[in-house]
Amino acid sequence: MAKTRVKYVCQNCGYQSPKGYGRCPNCGQFNTMVEEAVEAARPAKQNRQPPGMLRAAPQRLSEISSEVGERLYVPLEEFSRVLGGGIVPGSLILLGGDPGIGKSTLLLEVSALLSQTAGTVLYVSGEESARQIKMRADRLGVQADDLYLLTETNLSSIFEQVNRLNPTVLMIDSIQTTYIEESESSPGSVTQVRECASRLQQLAKASGMSVFLVGHVTKEGSIAGPKVLEHIVDTVLYLEGDPFQAFRLLRSVKNRFGATSEVGVFEMGGDGMVEVPNPSEAFLAERVVNAPGSAIAVTMEGTRPLLVEIQSLTSPTAFGNPRRTPNGVDFNRLLLISAVLSKRVGLKLHEQDIFVNVIGGLKVSEPASDLAMAAAMASSYYDQPIPADLAFIGEIGLSGELRAVGQLPARLNEAAKLGFKRALVPRLRRKLDGLPSGLQVIEARSLAEALSAVVPRR
Ligand SMILES: Nc1ncnc2c1ncn2[C@@H]1O[C@H](COP(=O)(O)OP(=O)(O)OP(=O)(O)O)[C@@H](O)[C@H]1O
Ligand SMILES: [Mg+2]
Ligand SMILES: [Zn+2]
Repeated sequence: MAKTRVKYVCQNCGYQSPKGYGRCPNCGQFNTMVEEAVEAARPAKQNRQPPGMLRAAPQRLSEISSEVGERLYVPLEEFSRVLGGGIVPGSLILLGGDPGIGKSTLLLEVSALLSQTAGTVLYVSGEESARQIKMRADRLGVQADDLYLLTETNLSSIFEQVNRLNPTVLMIDSIQTTYIEESESSPGSVTQVRECASRLQQLAKASGMSVFLVGHVTKEGSIAGPKVLEHIVDTVLYLEGDPFQAFRLLRSVKNRFGATSEVGVFEMGGDGMVEVPNPSEAFLAERVVNAPGSAIAVTMEGTRPLLVEIQSLTSPTAFGNPRRTPNGVDFNRLLLISAVLSKRVGLKLHEQDIFVNVIGGLKVSEPASDLAMAAAMASSYYDQPIPADLAFIGEIGLSGELRAVGQLPARLNEAAKLGFKRALVPRLRRKLDGLPSGLQVIEARSLAEALSAVVPRR
């Protein structure tokens, strides 16, 4: 009998090598290379396709129906919207997220809703006992007759039950606990996770059943992260949020059946995930007006404009080395904007610690929020509040110029809808249509010009 050979696989990106490294040569993560058994080549006879699935023959493109079938609408609008209007039958969807962020809660809610509207749903958990799930269901007030629970981690046994029950939608919580007996690698390893996912993909395609996979995002290397699955599945959703805040963002980063970067907003509470149909209003709910260091940005999350409050605090440095502490914004963006404020506007930020915080646990990565970040910093520096009815939109360039951003009318309309009376924007190159009446648009060429209009210097 041949000796089992081993290979080293990065659990973060899936990079393989015959030799282990402390740091993955492909993605640069430390301690993510784990020893896995090299699978013996499969005998040719062993058919990897699920039984009953015919080998495909070439078809004329013109003869193939392009209908995806009716999407399963989940009566949880924020969820359906992120998927592009509902679940496509036969699709494989990955739901990733940090531990404890609310993946199981969201999927259980969705399962219950689907079982009322779409048909039988099978929820397979490899992490919690049926009683634990029942307790959660009670807490969520879930009522569902066509929702079945199965606590199982062996994929063949799961397939057996699936064949018996023939559900419309299958939930696997989580893909890292699911394993295939024939494989010598341990559950949760890249090899196992990929093999399980690709078998579930074949099941979904052959049967038209939609399959959801929960994938844990982990920092340590012992279990494979959702990254290694992204190319196998049809749709990738991530549930994000600050664990200390109630807001959760469901973001689609890949979608073979719809637009990406669409975002759904939920609020996590004792009775589960509640959708937030008007997120801007929610994010501005706790705003203190006339406080120095606060500015409102209008960012786009997918196709939806979102108003968020950016707060900043600048205070004299105590120990020579000024600190820059971002929370919810990119560190390099913060450095760039403070450099531009120092050099082009003349703020003496080299002797100030700067803290920037996005309210609501949100992460703002869009450059269009630069101007609001700069305004918040200047407002704190001069200790002068920004007028409460003013919103900021604009990217800042290295020479302190304001650069145009996309989808300005949509942003301005959202600001007007929330009662803002004025918006500071980069100089318009042409007349824009569809601007709201009742909102004064103030144009500025540069950051210095923009700030002199709103933050009176002392
Ligand atoms: N009794 C409760 N009341 C209110 N909130 C609760 C209660 N029990 C749990 N939660 C919330 O639910 C969260 C866990 O949600 P859930 O189990 O859905 O997350 P998960 O992403 O599936 O986590 P895991 O990685 O452990 O599978 C907890 O962080 C907590 O905030
Ligand atoms: Mg869970
Ligand atoms: Zn790697």
